[in-house]
Amino acid sequence: MTPKTQSEQTRKLCELAPVVPVLVIEDAAQAADLAESLVRGGLPVLEVTLRTEAALDAIRAMAKVEGGHVGAGTVLTPEQVYRAKDAGASFAVAPGATETLIRACEDASLPLLPGAVTASEVMQAMEYGYDMLKFFPAETSGGAPALKALAGPLPAVSFCPTGGVTPENAPGYLALPNVVCVGSSWVASGQAVADADWAGIESRARTAAHLRQQ
Ligand code: 3PG
Repeated sequence: MTPKTQSEQTRKLCELAPVVPVLVIEDAAQAADLAESLVRGGLPVLEVTLRTEAALDAIRAMAKVEGGHVGAGTVLTPEQVYRAKDAGASFAVAPGATETLIRACEDASLPLLPGAVTASEVMQAMEYGYDMLKFFPAETSGGAPALKALAGPLPAVSFCPTGGVTPENAPGYLALPNVVCVGSSWVASGQAVADADWAGIESRARTAAHLRQQ
C-alpha cells in the first residue's frame, strides 16, 4: 500500500469524528469495555499508544468491537508496525516520520498518520505522498496559530493536532480549514480508565463528538 493510499485511508478515518481519544492502557482486560464506551459515545476512531505491556493485547480486544477503528500510537520502529498489524490495528500513528517507518508501513499495508510540525517536515511528508498528518506536540509547537500559518503555503495538507489539546482549545483547532480532527487523552485519561469510569468516559465522548457543531 503506497503512502498516498495510506494517507487517503487515514484521512477517511480522521473524518469520522472530531476527536481521536489517545489511550494508555495498563490492563488489556479493560480494553473492550473502554472501546465500547467510546464508540457508544460517538468516537469510533481510537489510538492505543504502544507504551504499555498491555497495549498489543488491548488492540487485539478492541479490534473486535463493532463500529470501532483501533490504531496503534507511538509507533517508532518497524517491529512495532508488524506487531500492531498482527494485533489487528487498522492504522498507525507516529510522533514524527522516518523513511524506515514509512517503508515498514508500506510493506505491512498499515496506513500511517505521521507526525510533522515544521514546513520542512510537512514538505518531506508530502514528498512521500502524505497529505494527512499529525501535528505534534500541538500546543507547544505554536498551537492553532501555527497551523493557521501553515495553511497559507501548504493548503493541501490536513492535520490532526495532538498534545496539549483540551476541551477548551479544541474548538479553536477544529475551526481551522486544515484541521480534520484532534487527538487527545482528555476523553479517557489514564486515571478514568484505571477507575473503570465507563459512564464518565462515554459522557465525555458524547460531548467531544459534538465539538465541531459548537
Ligand atoms: C500523548 O502523547 O499522549 C498524546 O499526544 C496525548 O497528549 P495529551 O495528553 O496532551 O492529550
